[in-house]
Amino acid sequence: MNIPARFGVGSGPLVLLLVTSCNTANEHARQCETELGPIPGFQCTDGAVVPILVDGVQVDQHQSGTQCDQPAIADANCRVGTRVGRIDTQDAVWTFLCRNGDDMVQLIGHNPATGATCFFETVFEVSQQSDALTVETGTVQGLLPAPGDSDYATVWKAPAQVAFQRCWTCHGADAFVHSPYIDGAMTDDGERVVPNVSGPDSAYYLVGDAFERRTRGNERLRSIHIEGNGCLECHRYVDVRQFGEDFAEPWDINARMPPDDPGSMERDYQALWECAQDGPDNTQGCSWRDVPGE
Ligand code: HEC
Ligand code: HEC
Repeated sequence: MNIPARFGVGSGPLVLLLVTSCNTANEHARQCETELGPIPGFQCTDGAVVPILVDGVQVDQHQSGTQCDQPAIADANCRVGTRVGRIDTQDAVWTFLCRNGDDMVQLIGHNPATGATCFFETVFEVSQQSDALTVETGTVQGLLPAPGDSDYATVWKAPAQVAFQRCWTCHGADAFVHSPYIDGAMTDDGERVVPNVSGPDSAYYLVGDAFERRTRGNERLRSIHIEGNGCLECHRYVDVRQFGEDFAEPWDINARMPPDDPGSMERDYQALWECAQDGPDNTQGCSWRDVPGE
């Protein structure tokens, strides 16, 4: 790292502090590769299109607002051309998301055997940061660099900036989030792109100093638990209020959960919702459980 001359000799300890507390994208990549294996390079166009449906029929024009059957949850919209992809490597499963109109890309790597997980995000207006990247009809085009490529740290954010987005609050039950919207995307083999790799007790933890620092204490990965609650037989509960205020309108969870008999566990959902709202300390029979990991 280049240390500007103007810091002078006297400020050595300060410089050291800055250097040790702010990992670069490349340092974070190395920490992740130790636990996940090589981070893949990829193109958004390798991913599958997330279909936008109106009355069950796929459309090829953006629909305004949330005027489609299954709008995006996190950034409520019905834009066509969003792509999500999956890459399976020896030790890890990777998903990437290229939201149409965003000019930025997100990547998640997860090792299902250990629970190790890394979150990555490119800089905004990424196509202006690299000659290799352009935007066509709202989609980032070109090869997103892997560590070792000279433009890796220009294209991908430093880990502290990614951690600042607190990805794990919504990606809370597990590394990967499912929604009716994203699960519309299918691989060529007719499988859902976003994998289902976890259960109620599967390990899940975040790799890298920037993330570990933020997920200590009250921010550590944990989920609410109610003994005997049917919803928790299959997966941990993610506090769906994190997804945004309007999520409930496009996504009626009782209409989808549990998958084999939707609506049959309405009371269990109600109990989880209330505990998330009031907090386990104020809710009889509800407690925090740390997510197993490391
Ligand atoms: C406000 C909640 C929220 C936050 C914060 C969030 N996500 Fe997501 N993410 C979602 C939801 C919900 C989906 C499913 C798509 C949808 O319906 O919008 C998703 C989907 C994804 C996907 C596609 C694979 C999957 O899990 O479905 C990737 C990749 C992704 N997010 C990466 C990230 C990264 C990286 C960060 C942090 C920089 C992040 N997300 C922060 C809510 C969030
Ligand atoms: C029989 C197993 C099973 C039960 C019981 C179940 N779910 Fe699910 N749940 C799933 C599966 C599988 C997914 C992945 C998406 C899909 O298949 O639709 C999922 C996904 C979800 C998601 C998406 C968020 C994420 O992190 O991926 C939410 C929210 C959710 N379930 C809530 C509930 C609630 C609330 C209940 C109780 C009313 C419940 N589930 C009961 C199997 C179950």
